[in-house]
Amino acid sequence: MTSPTDAAWDHLVSLAARPSGLDIRALFSADPGRVARLTVALDDLSLDLSKTAIDASVLQALLTLAEAADLSGFLSRLFAGALVNATESRAAMHMALRAPENAALMAGSENAAAIAHHERARMAAFVAAVHDGTLRSATGETFTDVLNIGIGGSDLGPLMATNALTLARGPQLAVHYLSNVDATGLAAISRRLNPARTLVLVASKTFTTQETATNAAAARAWLTQALGEAAIARQFVALSTNIRAVTAFGITPEQTFGFRDWVGGRFSLWSPVGLSIALAAGWADFQAMLDGAAAMDAHVQTAPFAENLPVMLALTGIWHATILGYRAHCVLAYDDRLARFPAFLQQLEMESNGKSLRLDGTPAHNTCPVVFGEPGTNAQHSFMQLVHQGTSIIPVDFILAANPDHDRPEAHRILAAHAFAQSEALLCGRALSEVEAEMREAGVPEPRIAEVAPHRVFTGNRPSVTILQRDLRPYALGRLIALYEHKVAVQGAIWGINSFDQWGVELGKALAGAVLPDLTPGAPPSAHDASTSALIARFKALRGET
Ligand code: F6P
Repeated sequence: MTSPTDAAWDHLVSLAARPSGLDIRALFSADPGRVARLTVALDDLSLDLSKTAIDASVLQALLTLAEAADLSGFLSRLFAGALVNATESRAAMHMALRAPENAALMAGSENAAAIAHHERARMAAFVAAVHDGTLRSATGETFTDVLNIGIGGSDLGPLMATNALTLARGPQLAVHYLSNVDATGLAAISRRLNPARTLVLVASKTFTTQETATNAAAARAWLTQALGEAAIARQFVALSTNIRAVTAFGITPEQTFGFRDWVGGRFSLWSPVGLSIALAAGWADFQAMLDGAAAMDAHVQTAPFAENLPVMLALTGIWHATILGYRAHCVLAYDDRLARFPAFLQQLEMESNGKSLRLDGTPAHNTCPVVFGEPGTNAQHSFMQLVHQGTSIIPVDFILAANPDHDRPEAHRILAAHAFAQSEALLCGRALSEVEAEMREAGVPEPRIAEVAPHRVFTGNRPSVTILQRDLRPYALGRLIALYEHKVAVQGAIWGINSFDQWGVELGKALAGAVLPDLTPGAPPSAHDASTSALIARFKALRGET
């Protein structure tokens, strides 16, 4: 079966096969205007795509691919609230969460922007009441700490953004994130908490996630043991779409903040799931973060593709992952505030686009690569060896704010120098002749030069993108997150996959349900593959159980 994109894909493959087509340094020599041509910007936020093997023909072919995939049509359908999440028959309307009240954003027959605005106003009032001490704990004390219980999108986004917004200045309330069902987590956190001054948020879109339900029950026991049952109504807050389950848990309607199923878990930090961000950073910062994301929403809809940041970032990723077959992607934010950004992106990118079947039922090839990262410069002292000299080519996104949120400008210059130097080293490399000359200059004997010099060679020509912006204030953070959200949606549309479902996480959940009874002492073993049965038996034996 042929598809309208076949010719565009084939053309890209042929461009990648050109002799010396991937020589990035040669592209710089051939085109003095390259940097300007391959830098796209929205206000102070710029993407420098020049350190990739994208030349004018590749760029044109990528843009043709976007047209052939009807990217404009997809974006129109996305923002019109169409059921782009076809396998779950849902819209993906997280953009409504950051839009003004009167924005014309519908999800099916629902006025998504108005619904989001209503809940946002309730959240703002709640945050103000907690901050000014109107809302107090069961013992009448003001809150000092917030425990956010949630996993996946109900944890990673809020945790990432809270760190980003509060690391430099300190939070208004200390927020602790509990995600894993490993009971060590709550034991460790609760040691540091006073139950009489802790507000507990249960963040779960479905309110059925086993890890969150288990942790919420444990937190409930911890709280009621100290303060009695009355503490639930005063100190538990629910952030969910499943109001019935929230009510059954005993959380009051006043302390329940809802959203709809057109908000995917990994896109939910803008929703009530982001309440912990607002409690930690303050409402004004939370709102500014939403405003930054809204600016990116406007941009992705209106900018021509060649000047459209999410589209250009997406196309660069497709060139690397699909056409050139680079199966890993590294994200290095030179910013401790973004320490959890790679973890957030892992869910955003890999849960969204880790798919191998297109919506039309045909196989997809080389979709989402493995995403990983750490803050720079720390990464330079761990895995960057492999990125510079390993056998795989791993494109890197460097992320940097020109102005930090501290008053040590020299330290920030050192940080920035490392970011720029890393991308320069990846591009330019270091030739054998250079290494040999340097070693000779240092008086190293010739036999030793012959032995060691090849190990000090860097091939260069390794691609990277640099994302530079003025600062990482809340507006800029929101804009950056939305840049990646739209990049992911654009890539999904071009790959022809559904970026908004996550069926791949279901089988493991179902099998865990089947394994759990077998771990009970004395339970007769049920049928599993031989390895799993043996592991269950060995686990029980190691615990002295049968
Ligand atoms: O298991 C994956 C997942 O469904 C994610 O998509 C989601 O963010 C996470 O679990 C948590 O789900 P919930 O918010 O419903 O508890």
